[in-house]
Amino acid sequence: MTNSPTILVFDSGLGGLTVLREVVAARPDAHYTYVADDAFFPYGHHSEDEIIARVVPLMGELIATHKPDLVVIACNTMSVSVMSHLRAAYRVPFVGTVPAIKPACAQSKTRRVSVLGTKATVKREYTQALIRDHSQGCEVTLVGSPELATLAEAALSGTTVDDSDIFAELKPCFVGNPEDTTARTDTIVLACTHYPLLLDRMERLAPWPVQWIDPAPAIARRVSDLLGPYGCGIAQTGAEMIFTSNRAHGLSATLTPFFGGRAVA
Ligand code: DGL
Repeated sequence: MTNSPTILVFDSGLGGLTVLREVVAARPDAHYTYVADDAFFPYGHHSEDEIIARVVPLMGELIATHKPDLVVIACNTMSVSVMSHLRAAYRVPFVGTVPAIKPACAQSKTRRVSVLGTKATVKREYTQALIRDHSQGCEVTLVGSPELATLAEAALSGTTVDDSDIFAELKPCFVGNPEDTTARTDTIVLACTHYPLLLDRMERLAPWPVQWIDPAPAIARRVSDLLGPYGCGIAQTGAEMIFTSNRAHGLSATLTPFFGGRAVA
């Protein structure tokens, strides 16, 4: 491992920035390359085979070009579809983002947990297996949202997004008797990295208060453990952001906080 490791963070769009900001906070010594495969967005509308066929060769090109010491797959849809294929194909360590069902079920008091993800994520066998293995007797409601990732992209890019559109995607997560605090959903897993971008609005729109589970801090801890201790201070190499569509990001003022204040090339 070099003194200033390179971490490649990969998502379908801007959602992975919610993971990036935690990783940057945990590892200020690293150089960051953020890649948004926006040419293939939204991943949630693609089949498992389509995602494997897209991501495995693309990751090979990204590894050859950027030579990362570690890759973060900052996308649930990708992680539950293609991770084993990536690990089989490449030697670089991968850290994935998968629905945080185990911690959510461990902390739910009402034993009612909802998992809000893309339509693809909630359908995948990987997610079904997480529920079989880790629901700990909780009633788990899977909610496949067709549009929320797109709404989050729009909101971060400065487009007005109506509350009613967000609420329509969110509503099925709230299960049980609204009047009975012991018999209604109390925990929602944010199983798509785009959704924390809308968290303040989702909290405001929620019919009753719940705990929202965002796995990003746990992912950052895992990345830091894998990289090992560091001693070279803050990397001065800045950060890069790449869109596979080749569009210029033009969002620098909005993006800078996710990169810990670094200049984003
Ligand atoms: N950010 C991705 C995830 O975590 C999904 C967005 C998309 O559908 O491309 O699942």
